[in-house]
Formats: sequence, C-alpha cells, structure tokens
Amino acid sequence: DWTMEHVVEMEVEKIREQVGDRKVLCALSGGVDSSVVAALIHKAIGDQLTCIFVDHGLLRKNEADDVMRTLGDGFNMNIIKVDAQERFMNKLAGVSDPEEKRKIIGNEFIYVFDDEAEKLKDIDFLAQGTLYTDIIESGTETAQTIKSHHNVGGLPEDMEFQLIEPLNTLFKDEVRALGTELGVPEHIVWRQPFPGPGLAIRVLGAITEEKLEIVRESDAVLRDEIKKAGLDRDIWQYFTVLPDIRSVGVMGDERTYDYTIGIRAVTSIDGMTSDWARIPWDVLEKISTRIVNEVNHINRVVYDVTSKPPATIEWE
Ligand code: XMP
Repeated sequence: DWTMEHVVEMEVEKIREQVGDRKVLCALSGGVDSSVVAALIHKAIGDQLTCIFVDHGLLRKNEADDVMRTLGDGFNMNIIKVDAQERFMNKLAGVSDPEEKRKIIGNEFIYVFDDEAEKLKDIDFLAQGTLYTDIIESGTETAQTIKSHHNVGGLPEDMEFQLIEPLNTLFKDEVRALGTELGVPEHIVWRQPFPGPGLAIRVLGAITEEKLEIVRESDAVLRDEIKKAGLDRDIWQYFTVLPDIRSVGVMGDERTYDYTIGIRAVTSIDGMTSDWARIPWDVLEKISTRIVNEVNHINRVVYDVTSKPPATIEWE
C-alpha cells in the first residue's frame, strides 16, 4: 500500500530530524502501540534506540519470550529484558483488593523502569505509544474512575527526557496498518487489549504462583480454540478468570474439591460497553473439556453471560 509506505517515510524522516545522533529510550509492553512505536523508531535510527521490557510475571503464556524473539531477534532491536517477577510477587503477596493490586503494580513498574533507565547513559528522548484517542480521552477524563486504569508504560515523574510520540495523530486502525507496513507480525498487530496489571486482576483476590499458572494455562487453551474456530478477530476480548471458590466434582472414582474457571468473551467497539460473545456451543464444549483435562486443579468451567453495564469486562 503506497499510502502507508509514504506515511512510514514521512514519520521516519521526522524522527531522524528530531533525534539527530542522540539516543531514545522506549518502554515495551508487548502490546500493539509500544511495539509499533519501537519498530518505527528502530527503522528511523536503528541502534540509537534502546527498549526496556519489564517482565512482571503477569503476562500471558509465552508472551515475554515472544516479545524478545519477534522484536529482539526478528527486528534486531536493543531490548533490555528485566526479570522482575520476584519483585512484583513480593509486593503483591497477600494483597486482595483490586485497586490496591493495580496501584502496587503501577508503582512497581515505574520503580523497575527507573532503576534500569538510570543505568543507561546519555538518553535524551523517551518514546511513547500515545494515540490520538488517548489525547482526546484524557481531555475529558471522567468515565474511567470506576477502575483506575493504569497503563503499564506510565511515565516516571521526575525524568528529564523529551517525549517522542509518533502515533499521536493516529487512530488504532491506522496504527495497525502502520505496524503491518513495518513488518510487525500479525499476532502483535491484532493483539486483543490486555490490561497493564495483566493476570494479577484475573486471579480474584490475592495472587499466588499456583493461581497465576492456572489462569495462564487456561487462557492459553481458550486462545488456542478461539483462534482455531476463526473467531479471534470477531471477539473484542477473551480470557479466563479464576474466582476464589472451590466446588465439588468427580474424576474417575474420585471426589474432587477444586477451582472453577470463568470464561469471559465480549464483543465491543471501544471497551466502554460490551456484550457477551455468542461463541458456538461446540467451541465452548471443546474449551471446557480441554481446560478441565489440561489444567491442574480445575474441575468446573462456567461462561460469563453478562453485558457491560452492569458488569465490567474484567472481573476486578
Ligand atoms: P472494564 O473491566 O473496566 O475494562 O470493563 C475495560 C477495558 O479496560 C481494560 N482494563 C485495563 N487496562 N489497566 C489497563 O491498562 C487496567 O487496570 C485495566 N482494567 C481494565 C480491560 O481489559 C478492557 O479492555
């Protein structure tokens, strides 16, 4: 598409002009926006870009490896991967309030990012994947006070960087087109929205390694089956949640007393309202069977059939 090619050329030119021979830092989250920003800036200035990718241990299955493989190896980007799982786990131990979890994760992310950024020398710019819609929305920020939508990638307060926000005139679909033009793989460009606090808000109540593992594994099964059924672009968001309840089941001759997995899948335009996705029953059946068979400590699977409002998309 020559139009997007042209956009890339213009953006690359602008970035080169602004940055010159100086250095840029970028926080990678694995999401669409930060990946596209990194790919664009990398095309413009190559090794003058350094990315920091904080692995907080709350990502989905294989996600951290995938970021390193596709962007690090595939694009040959400088990425510093910070293995901060323990730091986050320690801070979150015993914390069950959703907003408290969000606050801890948001703050800890900034501390970890700060610690890494301080080790780097001579950085002048910080790149951010701010979209046009982010700018408009923050002008009228009233709607999202129900949950403190903290986004991973939040800006450390007292850093002396100049901001580069090359996507801030673009809408999401344009960012996707730009990413595609830059060769960012389809699974990243079309990635479903994923909250900054990650799986921590999909384990209801206090998180443990075991519970995170249950959500991570069941989510992987769900995503696999949704993709096989060809539904991955029709459904806005689909994931599993682990409520803090156990119920009685039977496996072979044995009585079990184990956890329930909830499946959440919604259609939406912008996440502000949503309807539950009418996933075909045979697909739901496969998902349910596989989760019970493949994920330890699950003996029951339920499907969430509430719209937003009155429910929210996430359970926390
Ligand atoms: P709710 O649950 O409020 O979610 O209906 C609406 C959209 O926002 C996402 N979400 C978050 N995103 N940090 C984020 O970056 C958060 O704390 C957060 N909480 C919810 C949710 O996944 C959905 O896309």
